[in-house]
Amino acid sequence: MSFLSKCGTVLAGLLLVSKMQSEAAATMRPRAEVLGRERVSVNDDWRFQRFTENPDGLSYDILKPWILPAANPYLSGTKHEKPSEPGPGSNITFVQSGFDDKAWDAVDLPHDWAATGEFDFSEDVSGGTGRLPFTGIGWYRKSLTISEETIQAGKSIYLDVDGAMAYATAWLNGELVGGWPYPYNSFRLDLTPYAKTGDNVLAIRVDNAPESARWYPGAGIYRNTWLVTANPVHVGYHGTYITTPTISAEQASIQLKVEVENTGNASQTVQVETEIFELDSASRKATGQAVAKISASTLSVSGNSKQSVNGSTTVANPKLWGPAPKQTPNEYIAVTTISSNGTALDTYETPFGIRTVTYDPNQGILINGQHVPVYGTCNHHDLGSLGAAFNYRAAERQIEMLQEMGNNALRTSHNPPAPEWLELADKMGLMVMDEIFDTWNYAKVDNDFHLLFPEWSEADLRSFIRRDRNHPSIISWSIGNELAEQSNATGTATAKRLQDIVHEEDPTKHVTVGMNNAGPTTGLAAEIDIIGLNYQGEGKGNAASGSFAAFHSKFPDKMIWSTESASTISSRGVYIFPVTSNKSAIVGGGPGEGGDPINNHVSAYELYAPEWAASPDKVFEQQDRHPYVAGEFVWTGWDYIGEPTPYDNSSRSSYFGIIDLAGFKKDRFYLYQARWRPDLPMAHILPHWTWPDREGKVTPVHVFTSGDEAELFINGKSAGRQKRGQYDYRLRWDNVTYTPGEISVKTWKNGAEWASASHRTVGAAAALNVTVDRAKIDGDGKDLAFVSVAVVDEKGDTVPAADNEITFEVVSGPGEIVTTDNGDPRDGTPFPSKTRKAFSGLALAIVRAEKGASGEIVVEAKAEGLVAGKVTVTAA
Ligand SMILES: *[C@@H]1O[C@H](CO)[C@@H](O)[C@H](O)[C@H]1NC(C)=O
Ligand SMILES: *[C@@H]1O[C@H](CO)[C@@H](O)[C@H](O)[C@H]1NC(C)=O
Ligand SMILES: *[C@@H]1O[C@H](CO)[C@@H](O)[C@H](O)[C@H]1NC(C)=O
Ligand SMILES: *[C@@H]1O[C@H](CO)[C@@H](O)[C@H](O)[C@H]1NC(C)=O
Ligand SMILES: *[C@@H]1O[C@H](CO)[C@@H](O)[C@H](O)[C@H]1NC(C)=O
Ligand SMILES: *[C@@H]1O[C@H](CO)[C@@H](O)[C@H](O)[C@H]1NC(C)=O
Ligand SMILES: *[C@@H]1O[C@H](CO)[C@@H](O)[C@H](O)[C@H]1NC(C)=O
Ligand SMILES: *[C@@H]1O[C@H](CO)[C@@H](O)[C@H](O)[C@H]1NC(C)=O
Ligand SMILES: *[C@@H]1O[C@H](CO)[C@@H](O)[C@H](O)[C@H]1NC(C)=O
Repeated sequence: MSFLSKCGTVLAGLLLVSKMQSEAAATMRPRAEVLGRERVSVNDDWRFQRFTENPDGLSYDILKPWILPAANPYLSGTKHEKPSEPGPGSNITFVQSGFDDKAWDAVDLPHDWAATGEFDFSEDVSGGTGRLPFTGIGWYRKSLTISEETIQAGKSIYLDVDGAMAYATAWLNGELVGGWPYPYNSFRLDLTPYAKTGDNVLAIRVDNAPESARWYPGAGIYRNTWLVTANPVHVGYHGTYITTPTISAEQASIQLKVEVENTGNASQTVQVETEIFELDSASRKATGQAVAKISASTLSVSGNSKQSVNGSTTVANPKLWGPAPKQTPNEYIAVTTISSNGTALDTYETPFGIRTVTYDPNQGILINGQHVPVYGTCNHHDLGSLGAAFNYRAAERQIEMLQEMGNNALRTSHNPPAPEWLELADKMGLMVMDEIFDTWNYAKVDNDFHLLFPEWSEADLRSFIRRDRNHPSIISWSIGNELAEQSNATGTATAKRLQDIVHEEDPTKHVTVGMNNAGPTTGLAAEIDIIGLNYQGEGKGNAASGSFAAFHSKFPDKMIWSTESASTISSRGVYIFPVTSNKSAIVGGGPGEGGDPINNHVSAYELYAPEWAASPDKVFEQQDRHPYVAGEFVWTGWDYIGEPTPYDNSSRSSYFGIIDLAGFKKDRFYLYQARWRPDLPMAHILPHWTWPDREGKVTPVHVFTSGDEAELFINGKSAGRQKRGQYDYRLRWDNVTYTPGEISVKTWKNGAEWASASHRTVGAAAALNVTVDRAKIDGDGKDLAFVSVAVVDEKGDTVPAADNEITFEVVSGPGEIVTTDNGDPRDGTPFPSKTRKAFSGLALAIVRAEKGASGEIVVEAKAEGLVAGKVTVTAA
């Protein structure tokens, strides 16, 4: 009999029962109850202040002796001694309970102080980091109430931070607890020794130096934070590891390692058992009856120590996890219980999946034996106008749109993502290359991770793998990107050290690294499991071909993929003439080079890239000519803040995205969709057909289609029918002369009619057409509605050049406009502004319901001389 059948008595006997647990108990899901531990969000009701001058005399160098011990659980060698004297604090007013923080800003986490700021367009400021005020010292304060029972029972009290930018250091009740410098990793701090009954003051300091990143890093506690309370004997932080060594249609073997931590002084004898359930994807909870059980092991754990126990079982007729759309992302959840003398001390849940990954040097990735070409994108961690502050719905929307394009894989360039990003990938069925570092020993910018690398790389890497290794979506670990030392002996030795660590922590997945220069004769290439090529595979710039063949012949037993490809750049809806006849062209300011250095735009014909890069078409050709290559991770799926190549001196966000910063699709979206979703009937035509100053001028027309043949019509008259050649990925009518009216395209596939598309020459702007991504949102103060506005003519067609100034307003109901955007990389209007110009006819407002609100929220968009538009969003 499982202890769980005694649920009622156990519940009554528990000293600490959370509200959430009571609610769960009320719904009586009899199995898989979480007992003995409480994990509550501590995101709300913080006070915050940013300082541009150091307000406290502290620095990482001063704090380091008290922070370094946080690395100890992850170090294989010598541990850091915790100093016997208390850390700085008694002289820091911000950490004192008595400090009056009422004048500070009231904020909820996740929080990015910089994203709401002004853009700095001064001449000496580069757009590389996005022009937002991310530098400085930030202090956060919050009151935590801890019950007498918790203290009396000697519970362990932890602060779990999913990510804080950067060099986070925490104090409780004036005493220095510890910290974690790398801003993209999650970490746990033990508050127990400093906690007391009643009110406790938690203070967190973050420190963001200039030149700390190559892109926009964000600033502040930008991910979720949790307070975890557990009995002294509990499953350790990220303390489970599940593997599925053998899988057949009839059964899958499951191996589980559980690390049990005992923070009490006395040794404890406990039983550890685990039940396995199917996971309900939406609620992330166990569903139905247990499908397998790892029977109890008895374990004696000495005081103040950790001990691991292994167990195994089998799941009959396993429902496999596999990438959408051809496979289904089924998941399971392991519910581990630690009990003593029949009383549950802790319950710990580990979602996981059952699937095989094969790394085939001649075919690429096979999931569950089925070849899956990698149609991937790289993405930075920011969420457009919301900045780096993590938001579940914003992340989900990003992945939904990528999936609509046929994107089946994500690279977390160049750092650990929010944990929820991986949960979304698990649930939605995308493969993930989980990446940890952008620098190793040598700097890319002065204050980047190279400063921390010698002391922290092992701890960061092991903690990252332990956090993420149970996610079925992760098919590969990336230990780095475009390292300065990639081609020399230092790089080889570092790669070996890091890869060995990964193999120790998770031998089931292959390791890769993004190499933009290291060639087939380098030590790094010989060392690494998977050859990861940034741009060099397909051939950079005007190079006719690249290095796929050389790597494949040198390493016939290694899989190869493009860890980074394309880097095509464009401004949505902006077309620049003349158009190159090349398949791929290096962007410049001259005729046919696609750039407009006066207005800082790059042509959306989707043919232009920086000198190291290539158009999608060229990448596709090289992938097709080298079919052993597993696929590509395009730079980038979404535009991001910072790196506005080639206009770093004048813009603030990137031109690389297939989808712009606001979430509007560039033409390129359809070029990828045509290749990645060959069974979806679609055709897309560019440019738009409203060119008052181009009458009689050559205006090339390009068509992206999943069909294989197309005929173009101009005002009903055929401009010619074309078949796609073997290495053609678009159909081009480069000699079309512009005349107003209608262009349309009809496409065929295998001789049958397939899809069509058209554009009409539009009239003057007349109205605003307002739409929303979802008519209903949660009234939890976090869920978001994305409200899009198109400037339309009298017939309702988008006016492609419209840049009317639009004002957004919540005219009724319990909602607020959080930010606005339009996808223009040059736009200097702060993100929270309620007024924003349309860019190429479109603008966006992000709307949130007030916390705890319900009812209809009416959002209106107005612009001078145009009929206003409205949309209703219901919060529930
Ligand atoms: C507090 O003490 C630390 C050394 O313990 C010192 O570095 C720092 O400058 C002091 N801060 C203030 C505000 O006096
Ligand atoms: C555990 O031992 C330490 C050091 O001997 C002591 O300070 C602490 O109070 C003990 N904890 C408990 C819960 O007894
Ligand atoms: C326990 O499991 C881990 C991870 O699967 C493995 O590395 C280790 O060797 C196992 N230990 C024992 C004693 O079987
Ligand atoms: C379990 O029972 C044993 C023997 O009766 C006792 O020594 C031990 O303290 C009990 N453990 C707990 C956690 O109550
Ligand atoms: C390796 O490359 C780095 C970065 O260019 C350089 O600083 C370092 O000196 C090189 N090391 C060796 C051993 O050549
Ligand atoms: C087009 O390709 C040719 C041949 O590779 C090259 O010389 C020319 O510079 C290319 N044009 C652009 C704009 O890249
Ligand atoms: C940008 O500005 C820097 C420094 O002022 C200058 O060196 C560089 O040439 C400029 N780049 C462009 C593309 O104008
Ligand atoms: C376009 O016109 C030019 C000049 O008339 C000609 O050289 C070229 O072959 C034409 N291209 C196509 C694709 O018809
Ligand atoms: C205008 O709004 C309607 C929904 O109200 C939508 O179906 C249509 O696509 C929109 N048109 C444009 C051009 O955005």
